[in-house]
Amino acid sequence: MSTSTTPSATSQELANDFGDGVAIGEQHYRAWVGPPEYYDRIGALQFRMLTQLGMRETHRLADVGCGSLRGGRLSIMYLRPGNYYGVEPTSWALHDGIAAHLGTEFVGMKRPTFLEDADYSLEKFGVQFDFVNVHSVFTHAPGNHIRRCLQQARACMHEKSIFAATYLESDTDHVGEEFVYPWVTQFRRDSIEKWVTDAGLRCIHLDLGHPFDQRWFLAVDPANDIDAAALLAGEVYSYETYLQDEMEAFGGSRRSYADYLREDLARQSAGKRNLPR
Ligand SMILES: C[S@@+](CC[C@H](N)C(=O)[O-])C[C@H]1O[C@@H](n2cnc3c(N)ncnc32)[C@H](O)[C@@H]1O
Repeated sequence: MSTSTTPSATSQELANDFGDGVAIGEQHYRAWVGPPEYYDRIGALQFRMLTQLGMRETHRLADVGCGSLRGGRLSIMYLRPGNYYGVEPTSWALHDGIAAHLGTEFVGMKRPTFLEDADYSLEKFGVQFDFVNVHSVFTHAPGNHIRRCLQQARACMHEKSIFAATYLESDTDHVGEEFVYPWVTQFRRDSIEKWVTDAGLRCIHLDLGHPFDQRWFLAVDPANDIDAAALLAGEVYSYETYLQDEMEAFGGSRRSYADYLREDLARQSAGKRNLPR
């Protein structure tokens, strides 16, 4: 990561300046990525989406256009050291975000990797990602950027990886080849689907609410039969499924959670708890 940019203030000053009232797109690490008054909520929204889709602390996350780490700061805290990879071309915003949210001690502890890049060069990291997050980036990007990002991501994804992105839906496609910031671009749902398919992935549109009316879509390997609706309805991390998988691995049969619980409690009370952990 380049360290050539000087933060606009000290870490302490940045951490105590929330940018209230600063206009979107201005040179403040919070305003740069959207309305400062929504900075916390939009960060939480991204983290919630990733964890609802199944992101575990052992997974590797690529955060494309991570900006000032609005959402990235939460993932960096959650993931095990070395598992967060951020790409961002706006050096000052990234560095101010690092200074405000992390500081050198926390960076040393969680070891995130950052790449200052405007070409979606995920392959440069040389790793495979379990999750790729592209929030509020395709809402300003032209079609050629979206296609390039999908192709780069595809090369770094495995069969179970999940690519999650937002865009602004419209009846017509934006025409142009440049990133328009802080203005916006809009695309047809069909165009997004075609570009995902062209990249060798399967597109899943999610009809969810979003504070800025952005639409989420997922791109996954065609063989990945992920049930996104079930995951988002809270079925992720089922303890019952976990117990069933563990029991099966031990050569046992799959049973209901209630049965496990009865047995677990019974064994516990008898002082010989031996269900797999
Ligand atoms: C609205 S902000 C979103 C930041 C972050 N993804 C979030 O939602 O919190 C858009 C970000 O995309 C970045 N960006 C601009 N051109 C880009 C490019 N070619 N590749 C990746 N990011 C880009 C901008 O600098 C900005 O930080």
